[in-house]
Amino acid sequence: MLKINENYLKLPGSYLFSTIAKKVSAYQEAHPEKKIIRLGIGDVTRPLTPTVISALHSAVDEMAEAATFRGYAPDLGYEFLRNAIADNEYKARGCDIKADEIFVSDGAKCDSGNIQEVFSLDNKIAVCDPVYPVYVDSNVMAGRTGLYSEESGKFENVIYMPCLEENGFAPEFPEEVPDIIYLCFPNNPTGAAITKEGLQGWVDYANKNGSVILYDAAYEAYISEPGIPHTIYECDGARTCAIELRSFSKNAGFTGVRLGYTVVPKDLVRGGVDIHSLWARRHGTKYNGAPYIVQRAGEAIYSEQGKEEIKGLVSYYMRNAQYILDGLKKAGYSVSGGVNAPYIWLKAPDGMNSWEFFDYLLEELNIVGTPGSGFGPAGEGYFRLTAFGTYENTVEAVDRIINR
Ligand SMILES: Cc1ncc(COP(=O)(O)O)c(C=O)c1O
Repeated sequence: MLKINENYLKLPGSYLFSTIAKKVSAYQEAHPEKKIIRLGIGDVTRPLTPTVISALHSAVDEMAEAATFRGYAPDLGYEFLRNAIADNEYKARGCDIKADEIFVSDGAKCDSGNIQEVFSLDNKIAVCDPVYPVYVDSNVMAGRTGLYSEESGKFENVIYMPCLEENGFAPEFPEEVPDIIYLCFPNNPTGAAITKEGLQGWVDYANKNGSVILYDAAYEAYISEPGIPHTIYECDGARTCAIELRSFSKNAGFTGVRLGYTVVPKDLVRGGVDIHSLWARRHGTKYNGAPYIVQRAGEAIYSEQGKEEIKGLVSYYMRNAQYILDGLKKAGYSVSGGVNAPYIWLKAPDGMNSWEFFDYLLEELNIVGTPGSGFGPAGEGYFRLTAFGTYENTVEAVDRIINR
């Protein structure tokens, strides 16, 4: 008799953002006259930039002619894009990453969910708490975890590394050595960054223990301070222990266009096998490549004009982040993040828990944010606001909070 994958049944309740959406639409239905400002979900609001649009248009025109039409993309991505990434993201920063170590995909969400497949189910994972939920849930679905405990808010057989105000929202080396370590910096949801020394410590730890680091740098473009690594390959020894996940969503506004990539250095070998060949096999078997027109659009962000435009997008959102940070501080909130990341992480005031503060903001000020507890038990009592709204809406929302 057919059996389903029962690991799926271990996942609790509904997805965080659908719960939020339901609450928001119920409130809006009951109060149609209210203007709700959404600073919850991490989706961008600025349109694609002119250089990207023009690359898309000309790639579409190429598809209309037999001589320039393209069908399936090469398994691992077009050379023109992989070379542009290798040159601009790695070589330009003095990092030794070759074009053939870059796997182009349709985004970091899929890659961060899929990458665990190349590792045995016997491995134990460690995640930051709070965490981008995909890392945990994809391991639950695969069967690498035990059951979920409502009481602790944790899955068995997962190492949670609390990131709290007390430790500057930076994970500490866990007592039990994990096999797979998920790190995301700049961080979603806390907005915290990691220093070069801090990240070097993790690379050394992983090399010493034979662990693999899955490093999600989707928010790299938001780094504004010196001394913060833009890629894990700035650290010595990262080629033998780290896989990096990157995205075009947050820097170039490709959330609806879909493009990302994963770097697997050929020196990353475990059990006598190079992980690069396993990921290449997986890509070849299960994936048919990001569309040609989208890869051309991705290439365009590396032109001089493209780079300027991307900087403009990032500074637009970071002006919002600054406005939120300043405003909340003025209103007496305890806030962090927002300097090297488009997320502001704040403590719910007056002893409220995360969902109580969510309800308060929605009902009293008509602002939507994300309850910190939705990202893990250590997020309880915290709240995330994003800088991805329009400037006008951001100002209006913050002013509502200040003038409360
Ligand atoms: C940490 C992190 N990684 C990956 C993603 C997904 O990126 P993509 O749009 O490339 O799938 C997100 C999106 O919110 C994210 O916050």
